[in-house]
Amino acid sequence: MDKLLIRGGACLNGELRASGAKNSAVLMLAASLLANEPVRLTNVPHLRDITTMIELLGSLGVEVVIDEKMGIEIHANTIKSFRAPYDLVRTMRASFLVLGPMLAHYGQAEVSLPGGCAIGPRPVDQHLKGLAALGANIEMDEGYVKASVDGRLKGTRFIFDFSTVGGTEHVMMAATLAEGETLLENCAREPEIVDLADCLNEMGADITGAGTDTIRIRGVEALTGCDHRVISDRVETASYLIAAAATGGRVKMKGTVPVHLDAVLAKLTEAGARIETGEDWISLDMEGRRPRAVSLVTAPYPAFPTDLQAQILAMNAVSEGTATVRETIFENRFMHVHEMNRMGARISLEGNNTTAIVEGVERLKAAPVMANDLRASVSLVIAGLVAEGDTVVDRIYHIDRGYEQVEEKLKNLGADITRIHA
Ligand code: EPZ
Repeated sequence: MDKLLIRGGACLNGELRASGAKNSAVLMLAASLLANEPVRLTNVPHLRDITTMIELLGSLGVEVVIDEKMGIEIHANTIKSFRAPYDLVRTMRASFLVLGPMLAHYGQAEVSLPGGCAIGPRPVDQHLKGLAALGANIEMDEGYVKASVDGRLKGTRFIFDFSTVGGTEHVMMAATLAEGETLLENCAREPEIVDLADCLNEMGADITGAGTDTIRIRGVEALTGCDHRVISDRVETASYLIAAAATGGRVKMKGTVPVHLDAVLAKLTEAGARIETGEDWISLDMEGRRPRAVSLVTAPYPAFPTDLQAQILAMNAVSEGTATVRETIFENRFMHVHEMNRMGARISLEGNNTTAIVEGVERLKAAPVMANDLRASVSLVIAGLVAEGDTVVDRIYHIDRGYEQVEEKLKNLGADITRIHA
């Protein structure tokens, strides 16, 4: 298993280009199963989660052609099987979302239940309720969801019990090929949902309201191909901004969408960073100062995202003052706290592990660390950048799931970081 060796102390400085959004691209790969013609995606990041999804499509018999620039063309009408096996779904939860598109297009699908994962149990009840409301017959059999429909799904009105990104995307995709109109209420509003709706509309779907809590989908009989450029990854962009802030540095992220990060930029400003934005770039300058610790609560978009909680905690760990960070999306997303404390951070967990109280220290101390989720792993890389000595972060295959060329990008900003191939 590869590891990252980080010699702490560098002040990050420079410019980077944001990669395409993983959480958009994986969904569009699933959505391509709705189309009768080839779907072409560009600005797809070169990541393990993308490869896993392509492998899953391949196991269904779908032809996928990748060019040298990670342009991906998916020919879904070459599909031969409607069964997504446990081995592939278990490694990446988003692969469960092939269920709705296969069901809507081909009237049948059999997909393994994803099960729990490192950050909590993560049920899919809202996905299944939504598909059932569209008229799907759903049965559970030996850990698989078997879904079928006679003819087409039927448009309906469905209210989600709470905000769910995957649930909203899943039911929205299935409803594109339903007979009649579907009204989805209490929807999640994340930018990746809007990007997915844009892609589906380019395929001939009729979706309005994505990005608000009410989405209207007028079902169409068939979807065609399209040529879609994936939006930039807001979580990746912000991870580098936070890393720069923690080191007292200065960084400019290009090819990004500043408005997607309003809540995060507000917190970085509160931490003392000077933030400037243009149409497609964000710059952050800490002017060599130590950040101030910032309190926050994670919540659905447009509030502060759970996917940046671990990274901001690493920054808070070396900030001036004390802060409270409360996680409201996932039940078990503070595993990085124990690792950061082994590096000399002063973080305690309260409220049944839902709230971290961070008392900033001047500097962390290097230690061998590891994490079993993507964002926690990158937070330990940030901790390594602000630690005295050489930190080794183990199990970085988690980072490779969501951060394209992480060590090259950090090296470009002046970090002393090396991948150790096991
Ligand atoms: C998406 O996961 C992202 N993944 C996650 O990114 C992100 O952390 C999360 O949204 C929240 O923003 C992708 O887009 C591929 P949810 P998702 O459905 O869709 C509960 C990363 O690091 N829930 O909004 O699975 C669920 O357990 C990843 O890139 C149900 O109870 O998140 C969670 O507590 C990790 N029943 C909450 O809702 C359901 O049917 C929100 O989950 C669905 C969800």
